[in-house]
Amino acid sequence: MNAVTTSTSPEPAAAEPAVPAQFTTPVPPGLAWSDALNLSMPVMDQTHVAFVDLLAQVQTAEDADLVGRWQTLVEHTEDHFGQEDRWMAATGFAPGSCHMTQHAVVLKVLREGLQLGQQGQFWPIRQMAHELTLWFPHHAQTMDAGLALHLKSVGYDPVTGQLAQPEALPEQAISGCGGACSSSDQNHDKPGSADASADAASEAEEVQAVGGAA
Ligand SMILES: [Fe+2]
Ligand SMILES: [Fe+2]
Repeated sequence: MNAVTTSTSPEPAAAEPAVPAQFTTPVPPGLAWSDALNLSMPVMDQTHVAFVDLLAQVQTAEDADLVGRWQTLVEHTEDHFGQEDRWMAATGFAPGSCHMTQHAVVLKVLREGLQLGQQGQFWPIRQMAHELTLWFPHHAQTMDAGLALHLKSVGYDPVTGQLAQPEALPEQAISGCGGACSSSDQNHDKPGSADASADAASEAEEVQAVGGAA
């Protein structure tokens, strides 16, 4: 009987992937504002200060507040990235340049996290928040730093949108990261530019990995 009973029993359900324990509860903020993140461009820096604060609010949120705070962070990031994309478009970057592309990839993942959270899965948001604490300093110190230098080099005022030195704009649209990623940026090379291309690729992979994990 035992053999019959065993052979007709339904297959056991596949085990759910284990949720990493560190992504099940609020944690202290993993990223704090510091001078190392300051790019000496007040509008950009103020936006980044707010990003760091909103990210801390997500990491410290109880489940009841988590999705709402994540949504606030996602909406802020839409404005944050949109603002930088507009500055790039106004100063000679080609549509789809690598910095813009990374913004799009990251936002896609963050929105996927929001969808999962709205369906009651909270740990992907907590994992994404952790990954953002690693990703953001890298992004700010490479792509955003390169953009800030580029904006200053062409005399672009991000508050008024005025361009003081239009003659300094690149002759060819920039497809890289403001002198950081592309051979077409020869007129806009910046110190450390060789590393930024690899950085861009690895950053995108990191964030996509978070999306895949969810
Ligand atoms: Fe930024
Ligand atoms: Fe950026």
